[in-house]
Amino acid sequence: MTQEAFHARFGPGPIWLSRAPGRVNLIGEHTDYNGGYVLPMAIDREIRMEFRPNEGGRVELYSIDLDESHGFDLNNLDKKAAPEWAHYIMGVVHVLQAEGHTLTGMEATIHGTIPMGAGLSSSAALEVATAMSFNHACDLKINRVKMAELCQRAENEFVGVNCGIMDQFASLLCRKDHALLIDCTTLDFELAPLDSGKVRIMVCNTMVKHALIDSPYNQRRQTCAKAFHILCQHLTDMTPKSYRDIPIAALKSQIHNLDDPMDRRARHVVTENERVRHMVRALERNDFITAGALMDASHESLRTDYEVSCEELDIMVECAREHHGAFGARMTGGGFGGCVVALVNPEAAEGFCDHVASAYQARTGIEPTIFEFHPAEGATVEKVTS
Ligand code: GLA
Repeated sequence: MTQEAFHARFGPGPIWLSRAPGRVNLIGEHTDYNGGYVLPMAIDREIRMEFRPNEGGRVELYSIDLDESHGFDLNNLDKKAAPEWAHYIMGVVHVLQAEGHTLTGMEATIHGTIPMGAGLSSSAALEVATAMSFNHACDLKINRVKMAELCQRAENEFVGVNCGIMDQFASLLCRKDHALLIDCTTLDFELAPLDSGKVRIMVCNTMVKHALIDSPYNQRRQTCAKAFHILCQHLTDMTPKSYRDIPIAALKSQIHNLDDPMDRRARHVVTENERVRHMVRALERNDFITAGALMDASHESLRTDYEVSCEELDIMVECAREHHGAFGARMTGGGFGGCVVALVNPEAAEGFCDHVASAYQARTGIEPTIFEFHPAEGATVEKVTS
């Protein structure tokens, strides 16, 4: 269907398809920009970009979902003249060119199945699909880890959102039937098994996104950086590269040097890193009771110490946990709205959805969306043969 849309718009001929999935983070929240551990999985919802390189210096885009087009010259990236969705694509073009790569023009159509505004990384997926397309079209030979860094830079420098690297990295490097442990200091990564015969991943959208004045995300980043600096001055017998080098006992011994809320923010980050490590081990032995308990503890830490939850997320977590099939549940993503992720016993998955939907609606008056996602493969690019 999307190929036909491409041909109807840009004429017949061979085309290529890049697809990049969204992600849900199982545990390790607000740790990526603190150089810590995260454990996302790619979801079976994606951005699809059909493309065809051309000899000219122009990029012509068409969003199938919005029925909107935008074109720009490679040597004139005018952000103000572009609709917001095109910023992510232009951002990647900007960063690739800043890295010294020579790009060719292209025509591209874009279509997405990732729920928008739910914190499931549709924007990171759009950046990744763009990077995959140019990497292929211009034979840039950029490896996936580097590509994740470039996509993050596109978002930080061009789009103007100060995110960490988790979303782009997950979209590029996740594998089917697995979660991905990422060390955000070294960018080393390893897979953790997630067998859908044994456990299901349910994602419950609160349908709210609280708009907040003076971005708490950036505030949290700054507070954590400051707390880390102070901790380093007192942890004289070690030289931590980031929070993930600080054991809980070491933090405890020096936490009195941090004023509130710095002490609580640092405590969240240090304990969350520890929870991620435990979670990987729990998944390796299919111990979902422990994995669920770690997710519950993560939510509690995000709610009280990091203060990035909200009433609707807390209610959704309660609705999820009270169902007998749930091993555990927590908010996922940046917070202040968006989704809750739950680990659920496969036999109880259907009943879980019904219960959570009605219980949440009864308590909030809001009709939620509940998704079951399967751990999916990271981004791919292929020639479309039709
Ligand atoms: C957003 C950012 C990520 C990460 C999470 C919090 O999703 O894009 O980089 O910081 O928040 O874990």
